[in-house]
Amino acid sequence: MESINISAQLQQLQSQVQGLSEWEALQTLTTSFPGKVVFSTSFSMEDQAIAYWITKYQLAIQIFTLDTGRLFPETYSVWERTKEKYGAIITAYYPNAAHLQQFASQNGPNAFYSSVENRKQCCFIRKVEPLQKALQGNKVWITGLRAEHSPDRKDLPMLEWDSLHAIFKFHPILHWSTETVKTFIQQNDIPYNPLHDKGFVSIGCAPCTRAIQPGEDFRAGRWWWEDASKKECGLHLHQDIANK
Ligand code: ADX
Ligand code: SF4
Repeated sequence: MESINISAQLQQLQSQVQGLSEWEALQTLTTSFPGKVVFSTSFSMEDQAIAYWITKYQLAIQIFTLDTGRLFPETYSVWERTKEKYGAIITAYYPNAAHLQQFASQNGPNAFYSSVENRKQCCFIRKVEPLQKALQGNKVWITGLRAEHSPDRKDLPMLEWDSLHAIFKFHPILHWSTETVKTFIQQNDIPYNPLHDKGFVSIGCAPCTRAIQPGEDFRAGRWWWEDASKKECGLHLHQDIANK
């Protein structure tokens, strides 16, 4: 029953945002769900473009980041510059201290290199649990996901129902190319992570991200020691009831 209502609501939302520019679509969602729209930023170029719209058009969207404690110094610097330049308030969510203390004490600070299980557990404590807190009580989750970034993301709809978190998800720049993102950042003089100019495409935690070589897969720099099929941290897993 609930899934029928969700499907109908999803269709209605899809028709509301269709044909709108990215920021107008974001604005429409804030009208449909006042005070219940949130945006997660990892301070990537993609996320910076979205943060720019939110601050420029003063959209009623809460911006949050999951501070894993293991981000690059460059990433913290983009956060600082974004706060200064746009006066953006970015809510930070942190890992549960007791869970992290137990995990690190038992397995060491770099346990993610020793097994996929440990890596997933680290991602769960540092990202997934805090994400659950950030999304709680909200209706729409905006992300900077791009189809080009991985085969799993290639066929995603721009607007979808995330049954795991019981929230609508909207990816306004899903179909932008890397070139389009770069040009937008340049034209609008938006602060961005200098690692993007050093071969880093998809940027996560420092110990788990490296630069890629020309021609390498976009996700090749994430958890590079693991089998490609396991490379998700659990933020964007799917069990889509409404799209079935
Ligand atoms: S991940 O699943 O591999 O970690 P990716 O780095 O591709 O995600 O980023 C995709 C989107 O997930 C970002 O645009 C952002 O919305 C969200 N995201 C990823 N990492 C974080 C983070 N640390 N804090 C907040 N949002 C994040
Ligand atoms: Fe831990 Fe690495 Fe996952 Fe960051 S990306 S949460 S350091 S395993």
